[in-house]
Amino acid sequence: MKAFRFPFFRLGIIGGGQLAKMMTQEAKKMGLFVTILDPTPASPAAQVADEEIIAGFYDEEGLAKLCATSDIVTYDIEHVNAPFLKSLPGKEKIRPSPELLETIQDKFRQRVVLNEAGLPVPPFALLEEDKISAFQAFGFPLVQKARFGGYDGRGVVTLKSAEDLPKRLKGPSFLEAYVPIEKELAVLVARSVTGEVRVYPVVEMLFEPKAHICDLVLAPARIPESIAEEAQSLGIRCVEVLNGVGIFAIEMFLTKDRKLLINEIAPRPHNSGHFTIEACATSQFEEHLRAILGLPLGSTQLLTPAVMVNLLGEEGESGPPIVEGLEEALAIEGVSFHFYGKWETRPFRKMGHVTVIDATLEGALTKALKVKEILKIKGERKEKEYASCWHHHGE
Ligand SMILES: Nc1ncnc2c1ncn2[C@@H]1O[C@H](COP(=O)(O)OP(=O)(O)OP(=O)(O)O)[C@@H](O)[C@H]1O
Ligand SMILES: [Mg+2]
Repeated sequence: MKAFRFPFFRLGIIGGGQLAKMMTQEAKKMGLFVTILDPTPASPAAQVADEEIIAGFYDEEGLAKLCATSDIVTYDIEHVNAPFLKSLPGKEKIRPSPELLETIQDKFRQRVVLNEAGLPVPPFALLEEDKISAFQAFGFPLVQKARFGGYDGRGVVTLKSAEDLPKRLKGPSFLEAYVPIEKELAVLVARSVTGEVRVYPVVEMLFEPKAHICDLVLAPARIPESIAEEAQSLGIRCVEVLNGVGIFAIEMFLTKDRKLLINEIAPRPHNSGHFTIEACATSQFEEHLRAILGLPLGSTQLLTPAVMVNLLGEEGESGPPIVEGLEEALAIEGVSFHFYGKWETRPFRKMGHVTVIDATLEGALTKALKVKEILKIKGERKEKEYASCWHHHGE
């Protein structure tokens, strides 16, 4: 029998945003020592961690230091220096692996890997050259996606017809058939170092119409059991194809003709899994830690229906955040408030979230919509011009 000396593991996390913060809170619960690497001092995660390294995600010195002083290294963001991580002597302690991360970072390569494994993805083709004829040959309507650096809809444009061509993206990209979407679903899959696999209930994502950022997550998704089961087994296959270790969120489309297509994979805890903190036996953050530390995985059972509301920065508001409606929102039974601790709000920036649990999903949804009306994240500065800049700030 193995014995663990406290602190049981030294965990290094690249990225100090809300995902790292919630991961750190679980890590502290479990007796780990946590170091955060982030360019911003007192980042959300550093506020609750033991140590911080102030460095950028491409800073070789900082990354090498984090790796040298940690037993296990993970990340809360994909946009980090994967080629350098691959070259590190301690690279086997980085989970998921830097090789997997490199595949995910290139959305086109990600598509190719899934497609070659026989997993269902929308029809797609590499855009070899920025030539109008290539768009014409692929056919409209289409969706053009940047290969690298996309986030929260940044790097994705829909071109309905040739008239939309002036909107097209520059830089390496690929084209994808425009899918008639019935629902956007997500499924979380955890896979441990030992190969143990667990899958969470399928959830449904609803989007804010203006910025097209996910603002509501419904658990469980309102879909037939057979589709949920198929989504779960597709999710598991994705993670196995990638030989993934950790937690993964698989975003899928349920098409109007009731087919499931895989959209993209996040190699980390995901916004669509925040409900697991209050609504599941094991949260996505604890499950991720168990998976990367080689501990047995926990139960993914849904204990209650839940709806998660993203608290996005209000339009036209920026600077130090101000929360309105907190007392009124917390007076609603079953509401749990999370604030990430970001020092500045911006239009549509993810500033926090609320999880609502209720005996029924309909009840939780009604309450969640009320919370959305009541709770507002404003800022000390009112700057209209910020309204058009939301898309520069992914997280
Ligand atoms: N082939 C498609 N057909 C129709 N709609 C699509 C297609 N691909 C993407 N979309 C829409 O665009 C959204 C963003 O696409 P995608 O998830 O690939 O980009 P992203 O920038 O990584 O977004 P996020 O970070 O929010 O997950 C999707 O949630 C979906 O609503
Ligand atoms: Mg997406």
